[in-house]
Amino acid sequence: MRRPFIAGNWKMHTDRVSAIALAEGIADQIADIAHIDLAVCPPYVYIDAVGRAVAGSKLGVGAQNMYHEAGGAYTGEVSATMLLDVGCKYVILGHSERRHILGETDAAVNRKVHAAHQAGLVPVVCVGELLEEREAGQTLQVIRTQFEGSLAGLSDHQMTKTVLAYEPVWAIGTGKVATPEQAQEVHADLRKMIAGQYNTQVAESVVIQYGGSVKPDNAAELLGQPDIDGALVGGASLKADSFLGIVAGVKA
Ligand code: PGA
Repeated sequence: MRRPFIAGNWKMHTDRVSAIALAEGIADQIADIAHIDLAVCPPYVYIDAVGRAVAGSKLGVGAQNMYHEAGGAYTGEVSATMLLDVGCKYVILGHSERRHILGETDAAVNRKVHAAHQAGLVPVVCVGELLEEREAGQTLQVIRTQFEGSLAGLSDHQMTKTVLAYEPVWAIGTGKVATPEQAQEVHADLRKMIAGQYNTQVAESVVIQYGGSVKPDNAAELLGQPDIDGALVGGASLKADSFLGIVAGVKA
């Protein structure tokens, strides 16, 4: 049985005071939630403060990126062990903003996914097509290429411990959410790809989040789809009420 997983991606938002207040505002309200995994992913510089603020609560903490090397002369980069050291359990990898704005390739994402597993972090690996790719009927091929490239070389166990996030690029931060049917179709395709490369048991155990303009008023319908196991939330994760409204959309 897959546990639903809702994570907030704060991107380059908040400041020290508001980050702590937001995390505490969420942590205070989730003490009774036992059937859902929950996390927030603050900017690097606030991870430590947020981790301390929510220590002992049910709110996990993740990072939005990392570098694949364990340490060394890599100015400006942060390693998986450093993230663990400040209390991270998760790391988002291959987010479309990193792929499209910062030029991150599938090969780079793949190195990070392996480094995350080696260190004991749970990678949340994002895939998703551009609008023109969807309109050209290339969605499945694009997702397959990202899946194969970003996740190459994982053991069955590592794949089971990897979270996927399907985030159609045209739905991120645009208010244009994929319909539940559009999202479910890609999630089911992803699960088939996992079954093909690994096996059915692994495929049935991998948590696949949907991301892209998830809000309290569309969460229940998306999360009600059989292969949608959670949400990676950007804009609506920046207020405790709307993040918790999305959490409320998870079926009991
Ligand atoms: P959004 O972002 O919810 O603001 O569309 C989602 C994401 O980028 O993970």
